[in-house]
Amino acid sequence: MDVSENTPVVLIGGGVGITPVLCMLNTLCDSRSKREIWFFYGVRNRSEHIMAEHLKRIEMEYENVHIQVCYSQPESGKDEPGPDYHHGEMVSVDLFKRVLPSNNFEFYICGPPPMMEALVSGLGEWGVPEKDIHFEAFGPASVKKPVLDQSSATESLHKVNFAKSGKVLEWKQGEGTLLELAEARGIHIDSGCRAGSCGTCMTAIKAGEVSYLDQPSASLESGSCLPCIAVPRTAVTIDA
Ligand code: FES
Repeated sequence: MDVSENTPVVLIGGGVGITPVLCMLNTLCDSRSKREIWFFYGVRNRSEHIMAEHLKRIEMEYENVHIQVCYSQPESGKDEPGPDYHHGEMVSVDLFKRVLPSNNFEFYICGPPPMMEALVSGLGEWGVPEKDIHFEAFGPASVKKPVLDQSSATESLHKVNFAKSGKVLEWKQGEGTLLELAEARGIHIDSGCRAGSCGTCMTAIKAGEVSYLDQPSASLESGSCLPCIAVPRTAVTIDA
């Protein structure tokens, strides 16, 4: 997010997916941004509701911030509409249509995959341009499990040279990604999403080729790979 912009924004966090969007909210508030900001936070009920006091304080302090807490399964007798939550339903595009003044916002979404899939496609159907819908996969549940393509399956054993660590390991088919191979042998590679989305694990390839088990969504610099979703196609040397 470009904090110097004034475009109105909708930040949406589902469960622990609140983490990155809360950072965005805090950053906008700290910079005294005058943008119109809507913050939707979806959890099952109070037992999962984190940062409640922090969000209430922000809502009271910043006139341009509208906090909308959604409990999909409020517990009767425990969770009170008003003090605890605003909507007894899941975060959805139907809710946006009822609550937001228009669809003319930039949307930032992080949450479990079913929620993101529903929101991203629903926002598109509502007429929100693709460029205004930003989302990030969160957690292992978002990682599609590897299915080796046939071209890499023809040769099922490759040497992997981790150049910086000075270790040469054997990778066998079914042994997981280059990141998993490295970690299993105590070789550290920075990682974030572990799904080919964030680019944190990007590592230079010094020799050889890799295949991807899933389509990388992070932009790849030439001569580099994303070990979190890569397996060797030939013997490889990577800079880790
Ligand atoms: S850890 Fe995010 S792209 Fe590899």
